[in-house]
Amino acid sequence: MSGELNPETIVFFENRLTPLSEARVGILTHALGFGTGVFEGIRGYWNERENQLFLMRPREHFERWKRNCGILRIEVAPSAAELSELTADLVRRNGYRGDVYIKPLAYKSSQRIGIHMDGQDAFAIVPMPAPAYLDSSKGLHAGVSSWRRIEDNAIPGRAKICGSYVNGVLASDEARRNGFDEAILLTEAGHVAEGASCNIFLVRRGTLITPPASENILEGITRDSVMELARRELRLDVTERPVDRSELYVCDEMFFTGTMVEVAPVIRVDHRPVGTGEIGPVTAGLRQLYSQAAHGRLEAWRHWLMPVYEPVPE
Ligand SMILES: Cc1ncc(COP(=O)(O)O)c(C=O)c1O
Repeated sequence: MSGELNPETIVFFENRLTPLSEARVGILTHALGFGTGVFEGIRGYWNERENQLFLMRPREHFERWKRNCGILRIEVAPSAAELSELTADLVRRNGYRGDVYIKPLAYKSSQRIGIHMDGQDAFAIVPMPAPAYLDSSKGLHAGVSSWRRIEDNAIPGRAKICGSYVNGVLASDEARRNGFDEAILLTEAGHVAEGASCNIFLVRRGTLITPPASENILEGITRDSVMELARRELRLDVTERPVDRSELYVCDEMFFTGTMVEVAPVIRVDHRPVGTGEIGPVTAGLRQLYSQAAHGRLEAWRHWLMPVYEPVPE
């Protein structure tokens, strides 16, 4: 992801709408010094035929955000429904007619040197055109990282806590420098946790397998969507259980999931082919289903989506 955002972008910051260029925090902000922020990542998909932009599961994202803010004792007062409305309003004000990415960020906002937290919180919501991300269409090469996934009793990985992302940053930097597209992090116990910024799935003998929430994963909303699609649309067995490192080397298929990566096939891991070394049928099927559902092309999954614009009568 790269590229400067338009400084005229209208964002929500400190309880008002303001151009991005004026949404600034001070150098001594607690969240900047100590990583005490919690963010989210939400996507919106443009449906050309309906002339409509759909936000993908905004309520679930805002509910997760509000709950996880509680870990840092940050209170975001509006309800998930109100935050979804606010986001739709931001998208409309910016006139986006294409795929979008939304970044909500709540943070400890006081200007202070001391580490202890006070009750001064703030939040912002920044919309943007969906940035170009890792192209996974031909399949990725993943590598097991030498960095371990953060433990729940150190920094809870189930929340998108700003400071904890140093863990993923180190792992993905190492992976890229070593020639991989993405890192796979193990837990301290040596089990597979997830990618640097995405969840992981394996297919073995027709069963879809993913590490459970207790393996220090971020409880991904895309992960949840993919499990639902696999069960309901493909009638697959889906199992959440600890995964050994060596299962990565003997599985039939592997893919990552996340708001940014969507469903990203992995065709090589640690210089070994995954299964046949080509994108497998389960991965291809789920990738297609997820894209269709997110764009509003599957009636059964329209309840996941929030339309941003007034529908145009046929
Ligand atoms: C560390 C980590 N794991 C997994 C995910 C996937 O979560 P979601 O599907 O809710 O985007 C993310 C997403 O940003 C992440 O940062």
